[in-house]
Amino acid sequence: MQTLTEAGIPKLQDKGNSGKIIVANWKMNIPDISRWEKFPKFNSEVVICPPFSHLEIAKENIPNISLGAQDSFWEEEGAYTGEVSPELLDEIGVKYVIIGHSERRYKMGETDEIVNKKLKAALGEGLVAILCVGETKDARDFGQAEEFVNAQIENGLQGVSPEYFSRLIVAYEPVWSISTEPGAEAATPEYAVDMIRFIKELNSSFEHSRFIYGGSVTPENAESFLKKGDIEGALVGGASLDVDKFKKIIETADGN
Ligand code: PGA
Repeated sequence: MQTLTEAGIPKLQDKGNSGKIIVANWKMNIPDISRWEKFPKFNSEVVICPPFSHLEIAKENIPNISLGAQDSFWEEEGAYTGEVSPELLDEIGVKYVIIGHSERRYKMGETDEIVNKKLKAALGEGLVAILCVGETKDARDFGQAEEFVNAQIENGLQGVSPEYFSRLIVAYEPVWSISTEPGAEAATPEYAVDMIRFIKELNSSFEHSRFIYGGSVTPENAESFLKKGDIEGALVGGASLDVDKFKKIIETADGN
């Protein structure tokens, strides 16, 4: 287990907080790892989240990255079939974990309460938690985006000690913007910034946390998000599977 002196989002502090955070969410996809073996060093913090089955392979073969995981349900105590714990992730060198992704919330029925439990377990183990929040298309269309996200934040962070907030990254990722959703389109950068500003106001301890955007980020639109000061990085799904596209997004982050 990491100590609190090691807390804080690794490396970013060393870079005078200028570095952005670019996270690859590979979901259940495996790109051709041989194309990632010469992955260069960037100023931005680069996190790759492969499926559990490929954590070790990614760790051994991709240089200059931090290892992230996609969560599954775990209990703080006990050993359950088909689950993984923050301890196990920590043991194999995972530093980051994605929690509360909309695919888990709305396709697998994970509630805010489950998200909250996972968040506490991950933070308690010393991991950096990437908490995904974002409204559904219906909530947006009914003008309830802020209300929707407010509830996710309030419930998701219930009882989380402020001392952990320096290891919290909030990923604003509206469900309707995720490339695998029918008719998906990226949020406009202005819309994303407005929502992130709204979220930042929800908790005074958020001054220690970081805020990134996710949803159909591509090499073509990355700059429009990353040059906005309020957006400190990106959570990238589809475009992170192509090493050249992903590198272009990080180069854009480094230049902004
Ligand atoms: P996308 O996925 O970049 O393909 O929209 C993002 C995500 O689901 O985290």
